[in-house]
Amino acid sequence: MEAGAGARDEAGAAVAIEGLSHAFGELEVVAGLDLAVPPHSVLGLVGPSGCGKSTLLEILCGLREPSAGSVAVGGERAAAARLARCAFMPQRDLLLPWYSALDNAALALRNRGLGRAEARRRAGELFGRFGIAGFEGARPDRLSGGMRQRVAFLRTLVAGKPVLALDEPFAALDAITRAEMQEWLAGALREDPRTAVLVSHDVEEALYLCDRVAVLSARPGRVVAELQAPAPRAADRLAAITDPAFVAAREAALRALREGSR
Ligand SMILES: Nc1ncnc2c1ncn2[C@@H]1O[C@H](COP(=O)(O)OP(=O)(O)OP(=O)(O)O)[C@@H](O)[C@H]1O
Ligand SMILES: [Mg+2]
Repeated sequence: MEAGAGARDEAGAAVAIEGLSHAFGELEVVAGLDLAVPPHSVLGLVGPSGCGKSTLLEILCGLREPSAGSVAVGGERAAAARLARCAFMPQRDLLLPWYSALDNAALALRNRGLGRAEARRRAGELFGRFGIAGFEGARPDRLSGGMRQRVAFLRTLVAGKPVLALDEPFAALDAITRAEMQEWLAGALREDPRTAVLVSHDVEEALYLCDRVAVLSARPGRVVAELQAPAPRAADRLAAITDPAFVAAREAALRALREGSR
């Protein structure tokens, strides 16, 4: 397939994980994972600490090769092809402290070969939509936790990759900022749907933001339950999370999490 056409066709690339296992030496981290993420849908991953969620995202994004099994992104299995298709937002925001918010956000575009001025212009256009207009020149230590997450997320989105891998994007935030950021991300994904895999410690967050949620067991992580989210990314978060169907799904996920942690 011709490269330009391929890039367009992959706008909603699917992810297919089959029989995937990974070990670091003797330490078996994930075992026999089968997960499918259809184009433009969001899969949530919840599971106890150390069950291999971050490792799985690193494998997905082509930063690691699994010990066994396969991962395909947009039908491509090679690590370099996965890397080209996935934007990874790591567990810590990893903004460069000596760069302004704008230069941090523009980094992904500069990595794609754009000049500094053009990269800054394109990233800068998005600051308003991300609720951080006016903070372009601020260094990360002058930004609140929520703002830093928005800059990191903006940087992840402007990478222009069809698949997002988000590792606990809101874990560091207080409850109120976290709820605001969840609503904001839900809106951003409604406006600009992407295929995404989102890791969260928070079952409620995962069920609100994702179409499906896979519950992993304690290490080695295996899928112990897969739940359909009742109202993914609904505009009214509070109404969505207090709906009886949502509450039932949350209870089912928590039960699976408890049983899988034993
Ligand atoms: N590079 C590495 N070398 C050796 N062991 C590793 C490496 N990276 C992770 N591990 C181990 O693999 C296991 C899974 O780690 P991972 O970070 O994937 O878990 P996690 O589910 O993301 O945990 P958390 O919820 O705390 O973020 C842990 O026991 C960890 O210590
Ligand atoms: Mg992790």
